[in-house]
Amino acid sequence: MRKVVLIGTGAVGCAYAYSLVNQGLITELVLIDINNEKAEGEAMDLAYGMAFAPTNIKIKAGTYSDCTDANLVVITAGANQKPGETRLELVNKNATMIKSIVQEVVKSGFNGIFLIASNPVDILTYVVQKESKFPPNKVIGSGTTLDTARFKILLGEYFEVDPRNVHAAIIGEHGDTQVPIWSQASIGIENLDKLLERRNNPKDKENLDKISIKVRNAAYEIINRKGFTNYGVGMCLTRITKAILDNENSILPVSCLLEGQYGERDIYLSVPAIVNEQGIKEVLEIDLNETEKELFKKSVNTLKEIKY
Ligand code: 2OP
Repeated sequence: MRKVVLIGTGAVGCAYAYSLVNQGLITELVLIDINNEKAEGEAMDLAYGMAFAPTNIKIKAGTYSDCTDANLVVITAGANQKPGETRLELVNKNATMIKSIVQEVVKSGFNGIFLIASNPVDILTYVVQKESKFPPNKVIGSGTTLDTARFKILLGEYFEVDPRNVHAAIIGEHGDTQVPIWSQASIGIENLDKLLERRNNPKDKENLDKISIKVRNAAYEIINRKGFTNYGVGMCLTRITKAILDNENSILPVSCLLEGQYGERDIYLSVPAIVNEQGIKEVLEIDLNETEKELFKKSVNTLKEIKY
C-alpha cells in the first residue's frame, strides 16, 4: 500500500495530485481541504480520469483520520503570494494554520513522512517538525528543488544540452536569498569552470549571472502573469514523493534541519540531501567557495530573523 494524504486542494495541491496520479506512483490518494466540497469535487474529477491512468488508484476526499496509515502527508495548504509580496511575508498568515493542521495529523496516529510546500517553506517545515515532535528526518520541505529545476532548465537552454545532464544546485532559502552553487556545477561530466575555460566566451559570465537572477525572480514573473505558481512545484513534490516511496537514495536539494552541517544548527533550509523511505537519510555537506559561504550565511541569517 502506498497512501498519500494531501492537505490543501488549491492550485498547488491539485497540480501535485494530477502529476502524482499520472505517474502511477501510489495506490491511494486522500484529499483534505478546509473547504470539504472543493476536496470532494477535485477527488471526483481526478477519479473519473483513472480510466486513463497508468495504475489504478483509489481517490477520495477524506478527514484527518485517513492519515493514520498514510505513508506520506503532503501539506500545500495556506495563502500564496500576491504580486510583489515575498514568501517570507506570508509567515504570520500560514504558521498558525500549519500548527493546527499538524496537531490534527498527529492526533490520527500518523507515523509516516511529512512533506511541506506551503510558504515560506523553510520556516513552515520547521514549524511542522517542532509541532509534530517527529524526528527531523521525517519532516521535509520542497525547498529549492524548484529553484534547482528552474536553474537546470535555463542552463540546459544556454548550453544547448538536456537539462537532465546539467548537474547544479541552488541551496539556502527557497526565496530571495537563495544561493546558486556555481563552484560545483558540471555539464555532463565536465566541471563548469573547465567548460567556460574551453569555450572562452567573454559573454558567459554575464549571461550566467543573468540566469541566476532569472531563477530567483521566476516565481514573481509567473505570479505577475497568472497570479500564482503551481505546476513546477507540483512536479517537484511528485519527484520527492517518488524518491521517498521508491526508496531511491536520490540526492535532492530539499529543506531539512541542519544540526551542525555548514556550521549551522536550529534551522531548516535547503542543502543537498539523500532522500529515501526514511525521509532524509543524510544531509550532505558539500564544499562551498568563499562567496557561496558568505551568501549561504546571509540566507541563514535572513531566515533566523523571521519572527512568527
Ligand atoms: C514558487 O517558487 C511561489 O514558491 C513558489 O513557485
